[in-house]
Amino acid sequence: MKSILIKNAQVVLGDGLEKTNVLIRGSKVVSLDPAAHSQADEVVDADGLFLLPGIVDPHVHFREPGLTHKEDFAHASRAAAKGGVTSFLEMPNTNPTTTTCQRLEEKLQIASQNCFVNYGFYIGATTFNLEELKAARRTPGIKIFIGSSTGDMLVDNQETLEKIFAETTLPICAHCEDESTVRANQIKYADRSDVAAHSQVRDYNAAIIATRRAIDLATRHQHQFHVLHVSTRQELGLIRDAPPWVTGEVCPHHLFFSVDDYSRLGALIKMNPSVKGREDNESLWNALLDGTLSIVATDHAPHTMDEKRLPYPKCPSGMPAVENSLALMLDQVNRGKCTLCQVVRWMCSEPARIWHLAGKGVIAKGTDADLVLVDLNLRQTVDNATQQTKCGWSPWHGQTLQGWAMRTWVMGHEVYRLVDGRPVFDATVPGTEIHFDDRPSAR
Ligand code: DOR
Ligand code: ZN
Repeated sequence: MKSILIKNAQVVLGDGLEKTNVLIRGSKVVSLDPAAHSQADEVVDADGLFLLPGIVDPHVHFREPGLTHKEDFAHASRAAAKGGVTSFLEMPNTNPTTTTCQRLEEKLQIASQNCFVNYGFYIGATTFNLEELKAARRTPGIKIFIGSSTGDMLVDNQETLEKIFAETTLPICAHCEDESTVRANQIKYADRSDVAAHSQVRDYNAAIIATRRAIDLATRHQHQFHVLHVSTRQELGLIRDAPPWVTGEVCPHHLFFSVDDYSRLGALIKMNPSVKGREDNESLWNALLDGTLSIVATDHAPHTMDEKRLPYPKCPSGMPAVENSLALMLDQVNRGKCTLCQVVRWMCSEPARIWHLAGKGVIAKGTDADLVLVDLNLRQTVDNATQQTKCGWSPWHGQTLQGWAMRTWVMGHEVYRLVDGRPVFDATVPGTEIHFDDRPSAR
């Protein structure tokens, strides 16, 4: 078993930073603070750099099977590794949709061939698959589209939702936008052909009504529940007042983009839920800082540039982010907006805790050696030409960010390294299926 000694890094341990050495053997962290002269097959001198647990992105759309002209596991793994993301949890709106245990197993099988970071897949709810949702085990949880988006996976019938919350035990997460509000707005704004109309069609009310409804279900049924991609300041009050088993996430695009950016970026920032106002960006940041929101996840949802060039409303919703999310947040650390330990909390330990991921999200003796070494001083400009995602573009193109991954290890294997400013990947060792700690029935 290969051993690696990472020396002299500032290591994020729990809620603090410590300059210490880390010894990896095989796929595990076996020792913190081993003597600097410990024997190891490889010694990495990380003086001046920061060692973080690998990023866990619990909300991505990697498009396999069926939508591989937009993204596939091979490209997405490279994008993830470059972004310091060592584990991902992927959504069920593929083709076919991941809505049965068999489809789940098929997806896991494809991933075992083509992924070189760690993977897990949600099972999607439909109106008719309650028994599948009850039987599923090799999954972090259940995804419900309480509001339609890419793919045809809407479940908004109250009776069905009550049953899912009452009779299943896995954690549930949901896309919360109220379908009838969206449909009424579509009629109201039918004459609009500018993409900015998207934020009026998928407006504040759509998000608030559906989030309130979902939290009500989770509260009454005492079911672990996660609100995906919170986009409005008003939803924050709902999450703040909810029981502790209700958590919320925010995505980079809802932190960094607002309706003011449509004139510059057009359909590239068309997302569901839509981007909202600048005051929402600020409130979402504050909600992260005060603990109302627990997770920063990307909702990496690539579409090709040709698809994005279709006229509104035909242009699809979604944007890629997995390879830039850590850098976007490290840049904020450099600007003094938050601390490195907070970033690790939002992007590593909280996703691992909320989704019960075994051995992930923290650096400690015995955890998986999923690690990312970052240089907080390195400045690089996001460039469409160097994006690894198959769609080949980023809404952050042209933006210079300070703070990037230099090396990424997945289960003790180095999958990414920045050498003289150029990315070098090693895709030869497959990633592993993520396992789950004991999950309480319901909460
Ligand atoms: O904008 C979005 N795109 N929101 C979603 O909920 C789905 C995603 C996609 O899969 O394209
Ligand atoms: Zn999504």
